[in-house]
Amino acid sequence: MSLLAEIKEKAAKKGKTIVLPEGTEKRTLLAIKDIVAQKIANPIILGDESEIRAAASDAGADLSGAEIVDPAKAAFFDDYVQAFYEMRKSKGLTLDQAKASMLDPLFFASMMVKMGKADGEVAGAENTTGNVLRPALQIIKTAPGISAVSGSFIMIVPNCEYGYNGILVFADCAVTPMPTAENLAEFAKASAQTAVTLCGMPEPKIGMLSFSTKGSASHEVVDKVAKATAIAKERFPELKVDGEFQADAALVPSVGASKAPGSPVAGQCNVLIFPDLQAGNIGYKLVQRFAKAEAIGPILQGIDKPVNDLSRGCSVEDIVNVVAMTAVRA
Ligand code: ACO
Repeated sequence: MSLLAEIKEKAAKKGKTIVLPEGTEKRTLLAIKDIVAQKIANPIILGDESEIRAAASDAGADLSGAEIVDPAKAAFFDDYVQAFYEMRKSKGLTLDQAKASMLDPLFFASMMVKMGKADGEVAGAENTTGNVLRPALQIIKTAPGISAVSGSFIMIVPNCEYGYNGILVFADCAVTPMPTAENLAEFAKASAQTAVTLCGMPEPKIGMLSFSTKGSASHEVVDKVAKATAIAKERFPELKVDGEFQADAALVPSVGASKAPGSPVAGQCNVLIFPDLQAGNIGYKLVQRFAKAEAIGPILQGIDKPVNDLSRGCSVEDIVNVVAMTAVRA
């Protein structure tokens, strides 16, 4: 069974409720039929009901089994406005601004997840990553002990001898432009969880990537990765993590053995933590294009409840898959 089929099967056993705030977006509406038919989640679509029904009719989408919630008419709208105001008044938010924010489906969706009306959120078919993330960061916030959110990709690389049968987790490829050493250590922990929960990897082996292997080069950015490795080992002793590694030392057994002898993971890594967002974002796209890899994500890690971002170029199938992953993590 393929990894995605396994994820959908796991989702179907959970019966979670996932809110989709982009209620008139065509691909989102078309995805509802499969989400319901495969019992992947109970979907909630946000927006004006007549506009949603008109968009569905234009798209030929079947919305049976989905709940439609219009934020402006929701019985709990005023409660959400008040809750958001209380959360942010110390930052200068006024009641009027709180009301305006709750009329924005992205903010309303994050509040639904915060308040437990939904178990997770999926958006981004028509909004940027930043616009999807900001409400989630302001309302749901990071999980306890986590200082920065990251976005991982599950890379399924055909005919590949590296990673876990050609499956690897890459992070951060989507969120934090300039991570600190502490942030990188947390990305290692969160990505290992993703590897276990979504990829079924029994033992994630994490490589902290750099242009240096175990001190072969010296520079402050290398020092940051070495420090991140030390923090990860200290804070998360249960992890199999090491670095700093060049990519070949992380992945190729013979190179790992010669450049990092004695390392518990060199040459066997299946989770790669990139030193910053530019490297991570470029890295996943190069592997996706050159190796014709399937890149599933970004899977947002470190938010207290699961929120996932879609690419604006996503397909209907991508939306169904991301809803399934969100449900599994809920
Ligand atoms: N992790 C955790 N919390 C964060 C982070 C982070 N990385 N960044 C900001 N926050 C918190 C802030 O502390 C703030 O909290 P507070 O208001 O309660 O104090 C809240 O989130 C909002 O912060 P802002 O400053 O308003 O948000 P900002 O404008 O900095 O945006 C964002 C944050 C959206 C994560 C931004 O850094 C961003 O756009 N990142 C890059 C996203 C991107 O474009 N990715 C590449 C494309 S995706 C792809 O190719 C797959």
